[in-house]
Amino acid sequence: MKLVVFSDPHMTAGRPICGRSPAEWLGKAIDHAARHHADAAACVILGDLADSGAREEYVILKEGLARLPLDCRLMLGNHDDRAMFREIFPSAPVDANGFVQSAFDLGDVRCILLDTLSPGEGAGSLGGGRLEWLAATLASSDRPCLIFLHHPPIETGLRNFDRIGLKERSAFEALIAGHRHRVAGLFFGHCHMSIAGTVAGLPAFGIRSLTCQSLPNFRDGRFLAAPDLPPAYSVIRVQGGALTVHTIEFGYCGPVEESGDA
Ligand SMILES: [Fe+2]
Ligand SMILES: [Fe+2]
Repeated sequence: MKLVVFSDPHMTAGRPICGRSPAEWLGKAIDHAARHHADAAACVILGDLADSGAREEYVILKEGLARLPLDCRLMLGNHDDRAMFREIFPSAPVDANGFVQSAFDLGDVRCILLDTLSPGEGAGSLGGGRLEWLAATLASSDRPCLIFLHHPPIETGLRNFDRIGLKERSAFEALIAGHRHRVAGLFFGHCHMSIAGTVAGLPAFGIRSLTCQSLPNFRDGRFLAAPDLPPAYSVIRVQGGALTVHTIEFGYCGPVEESGDA
């Protein structure tokens, strides 16, 4: 089973981010995924769909995604506006409290998508019944599962990101620990960089942005943007309960040299 994962497209109504057009780079990612990974079971987008949460940004996103030949599952990040998103994407599944959370099965694997948007702040939350929804969802199936959320469920060691991390990280980890035999891995966005760690001993992967990349800053609390580092997306393979995560460097334009046996 193969999944395409996009993260942090930060759509705008034309304004460039780090000198790039988010719509143009979404289009390039879609073209690449359609050409190389049309056999994927679905595409998950890890939030920060829109840069400011404006209507036009979601409309541009929706128009762009119409060209993607994959079942597309959208999640929210701190830059999103839940009400506006739901207005433009009325068929997006929500939980009983209106959070954009859902679970769906792809073959033997259950994908669980969480909504960590906490309006008015950069940090993420699973309050308001969201953690309880996850507990019930995890308890409802014995299938191996993948968990997706925008905010990192790990301490990154980077002050800039840890101060806008997941507020209920300890409770989240305790919940995951109780279901660790069925969780194959966790995936998050928000950091705009490749980063990995563990949650209750399970692998967790941070995925690059479709628009602007960050560098890890171990020195102080500032964010470091790397405008020339190309966008990337990820492809996840789950085979017999084993997980593989690839970084797809679709923005790389340099030479590629082939060697070895065909
Ligand atoms: Fe972001
Ligand atoms: Fe974010």
